Amino acid sequence: MSSHTYAINPTEAGRAPGEPPLLEAKGISKSFPVRLGTFARGAVSAVDDLWLTAEKGQTVGIVGESGCGKSTAARLILGLIDCDEGEILFEGEDVNVIKTDTYNRRQLRRNLQMVFQDPYSSLNPRASIGELIGFPMKVHAFPADEIGDRVGSLLESVGLHRNHAAYYPHQMSGGQRQRVNIARALALDPKLIVCDEAVSALDKSVQAQVLELLRDQQAEHGFAYLFISHDLNVVEYVSDVVVVMYLGQVVEVCTSERLYEDPQHPYTKALLDSVLTLSRRHEEPASKLEGEIPSPINPPSGCRFRTRCPHAMPICAEQRPAPVATEPGHTVSCHLYADGGQGPVTIDLSSTDSESADSKSTVRRAI
Ligand SMILES: Nc1ncnc2c1ncn2[C@@H]1O[C@H](COP(=O)(O)OP(=O)(O)OP(=O)(O)O)[C@@H](O)[C@H]1O
Ligand code: SF4
Ligand SMILES: [Mg+2]
Repeated sequence: MSSHTYAINPTEAGRAPGEPPLLEAKGISKSFPVRLGTFARGAVSAVDDLWLTAEKGQTVGIVGESGCGKSTAARLILGLIDCDEGEILFEGEDVNVIKTDTYNRRQLRRNLQMVFQDPYSSLNPRASIGELIGFPMKVHAFPADEIGDRVGSLLESVGLHRNHAAYYPHQMSGGQRQRVNIARALALDPKLIVCDEAVSALDKSVQAQVLELLRDQQAEHGFAYLFISHDLNVVEYVSDVVVVMYLGQVVEVCTSERLYEDPQHPYTKALLDSVLTLSRRHEEPASKLEGEIPSPINPPSGCRFRTRCPHAMPICAEQRPAPVATEPGHTVSCHLYADGGQGPVTIDLSSTDSESADSKSTVRRAI
């Protein structure tokens, strides 16, 4: 584990003095062994020294391109796989220790729930919706006569009908199935729900309804979300705090508001520019995300973004950039911010004399 200590969450949402955060990941890493040929072996560095905190009732978004380690981070946090390094604390208790004790493991399962990407494959086709939602309650020994009624209330709370309890997954649409998944995650009154690309498989209008539902449920029950998505717009909509990942590492952490107002890491800037919403399309992107993500089997030395970064310097190949707090609650891992550096320099070409008359649009170009 590195010795980095830095602002990993800008808010301490209503925490009493001495009370631990709901969830802390402290320098967690995970590599997977892979075959590279008949005899050769290698390892994929999926998550490398990841730090994050989630407070009660808060939504922490994790965003980054495909393969950057988001789902691996989720599986580590859920305790589905073990960390190679680092520790995960849930309400101040080490998840690895909790897992060794049957009673505490059951409590952890109850408090930590998940909603996965694929609303089709995550439901057993042979079980009715009522059985699927009721199953976790059965496992946790809820009184049998209460389960049916609670299943009905949960179905209603996610915008379905009590009668849907008798349906089977194939009789429901993708949006309805994801509502069932959400109802199932809510069944045990969890404290944290990990949503891994929970709306990615849904079409835009259904996506908006499910996001609204997730927010309403959080407002009602006060649980926290770890919301994982490759879609920056979705993450912006739901998150209080955003963690930006690149090739297994965290490159920037900030409140959602500030991240979108003032992204600082060259990767975050490029990521945001590459998903300019239609309403912002009058601007030409200031920076573009060029090239492919390098292989996580042999990631670049120093800063892993250096092979795609327009600002790369010799030090970027030599040293991994340490996280720097550039303002309260805003942390960036980039050598451009070390020792009081101000990050990439930008020139506003719209104010230069040489600008042609027919090119009045604001063109900012990173140098
Ligand atoms: N069990 C495994 N064995 C080998 N490599 C793995 C395993 N699980 C994940 N990986 C690798 O780890 C890296 C991170 O994968 P992960 O699924 O966490 O990415 P992701 O950010 O969730 O991507 P996506 O947005 O496509 O879901 C990838 O290179 C992936 O191939
Ligand atoms: S550390 Fe160097 S390569 Fe990495 S983002 Fe900053 S300038 Fe670019
Ligand atoms: Mg994933």
